[in-house]
Amino acid sequence: MLTRRQILFGSIATVGAGATSIISGADAANAYREGFAAAQKLAGSKLAKSKLTWHGKHQAGIESRAQAHTNFVALNILPNITADDMLRWMVLLTDNISTMCAGIPALADPQPDVFVGAANLSITVGFGPSLFKKLKLESNQPASFDAIPKFSIDELQSEYCDGDVLLHIAADDLQIMNHVTRTLISDSKSFAKMHWLQNGFTNAVGTVPEGVTQRNLMGQVDGTDNPELGTENFAQRVWIDDGPAWIVGGTQLALRRIRMNLNTWDLLGRTEKEAVIGRHLDTGAPLGKTNERDAIDFEAVDDRGLKVIPEFAHIRRAASQNLDEIFFRRPFNYQVLDASAGQLEAGLLWTAYARDLSKQYLPVQRRLAQFDLLNKWTTPIGSATFAIARGIDPGEIIAEELFS
Ligand code: HEM
Repeated sequence: MLTRRQILFGSIATVGAGATSIISGADAANAYREGFAAAQKLAGSKLAKSKLTWHGKHQAGIESRAQAHTNFVALNILPNITADDMLRWMVLLTDNISTMCAGIPALADPQPDVFVGAANLSITVGFGPSLFKKLKLESNQPASFDAIPKFSIDELQSEYCDGDVLLHIAADDLQIMNHVTRTLISDSKSFAKMHWLQNGFTNAVGTVPEGVTQRNLMGQVDGTDNPELGTENFAQRVWIDDGPAWIVGGTQLALRRIRMNLNTWDLLGRTEKEAVIGRHLDTGAPLGKTNERDAIDFEAVDDRGLKVIPEFAHIRRAASQNLDEIFFRRPFNYQVLDASAGQLEAGLLWTAYARDLSKQYLPVQRRLAQFDLLNKWTTPIGSATFAIARGIDPGEIIAEELFS
């Protein structure tokens, strides 16, 4: 197999051959050094210098605070790509990812001046069910991993569905995140084409106090009832501990693009909005309680004998009915132009991470698709699943065992 060095130099040569003016390897190396030095001079802030640990048992970007900006990118492999080619691509990606997450521009970055630091950059790599089929690697899939079935509430648009390979890029600086996204896509072009890009956001660092649960664009505190980061409970719900070596320490991701009808939501009063979810808007506390993390009382009735948390309120329908139905949720807001309506379109890039989506997430999703007051104002328009490879130590290659 080619070494990482050969692949990297090979890719520089390919770029050079296609360009109108070809710069020599020495000139490229100088340009890189000068650009990097320029970026270092600008990297004045604590945020620019902030880094997440990327190497380790699990890939970064899941068991951590959500960064302000996120890009989910799905790519489809080019015809005739083989498992060997995938391994060569993973060598390149591993090098790029570990370098950039350490705050250094990727080797051969033509614009290193832009990369002023990591700003808590994370890049997470996963593989969709279609990749295993195309490469006949089904026997190496995690147990029961598959595409999400279509639900009656879904109005799916193919431009937001499926995908062979996922790159999830997140950082606390939009410019850095977009530069990294372009670098990764550009270095992937011999292997795959982009299928979709979905951009999401939450508050910037420092805008709200640390540890405060984020709000979605319906105004709700969103993400309260979730396994706590860094706990044994989180590990048991999320990190796979059995199966092919490349996935032990990895997880499964469900990504749903859920459009919100904010125009009709805006017309509701606060009490009606609170009844839809079953929580107070200001504090995020369950209805009838005071604090966000107070226990939910699903049996409580008001003085008319009606349930305080309505029968079809989102949290009642979503609440786990047994210990299997617990997973990690992380919502990212999105807002784009709906050109056909001349309006804004807003919603959530809604994610669930689980050891086994079929046992932990799907039963909840089926229940919500059947009845959930929230469905009146929300429509899933995108749907994809990815198996997220285990984390790696320095010297290892992402998903090496899968493609060897
Ligand atoms: C646009 C779509 C959605 C919105 C706006 C939304 C919003 C919320 C909010 C505000 C809460 C209460 C706070 C919290 O515990 O996080 C919540 C809880 C929850 N949601 Fe959603 N959600 C959406 C979609 C979904 C989907 C698709 C699922 C699963 C298939 C889901 C599963 C859950 C679960 C499991 C809880 C915790 C319930 C409990 O307290 O036990 N949500 N959601």
